[in-house]
Amino acid sequence: MAILKIARMGHPILRTRASEVADPSAPEVARLVDAMVETMEDADGTGLAAPQVHMPWRIVIYKVDDERIEDESGGVPLTVMINPLVEPVGDDTSLGFEACLSVPGMAGAVRRHNNVQVTYQTIEDKKISFDARGFHARVIQHECDHLDGILYPSRIEDMTQFGFVEELSRGQMPIKEGADGD
Ligand code: NI
Repeated sequence: MAILKIARMGHPILRTRASEVADPSAPEVARLVDAMVETMEDADGTGLAAPQVHMPWRIVIYKVDDERIEDESGGVPLTVMINPLVEPVGDDTSLGFEACLSVPGMAGAVRRHNNVQVTYQTIEDKKISFDARGFHARVIQHECDHLDGILYPSRIEDMTQFGFVEELSRGQMPIKEGADGD
């Protein structure tokens, strides 16, 4: 186990589509996930995707603490998703501030689907499907974007809603630790 180096915006691996994991139960997947958990906790992040630690595989992890939830959707225990597929449920969207461990010190307002359905494999290679909403759905969309080489700044519609957290917090912007803290 080790704390891994996190790639920052500009590194080509963050713009690359990650590959499917052929065998989610392989020992090297478990080792990578352990190191990702350690890295995410060390960085005080909400989520982390494998490309952020220079591994081009379709793996994301996240954990949502109760105090990060401003709506009624509640906290979520540590979740490890291999080969996740995200489908919007309905057309409702909302704006919310996000931050990312690969874009340190910054935050921006991003529009996301309010409700999504996710299907993924566990590290025991079991298939799981569930619906997520609110902040939980936002975290999943942010993390799974990393697997397609997309960082949240490219989804910002109004660039006045993007900046350094310390500067944004001087104004009226309701900065919350974003999807991801990653
Ligand atoms: Ni991120």
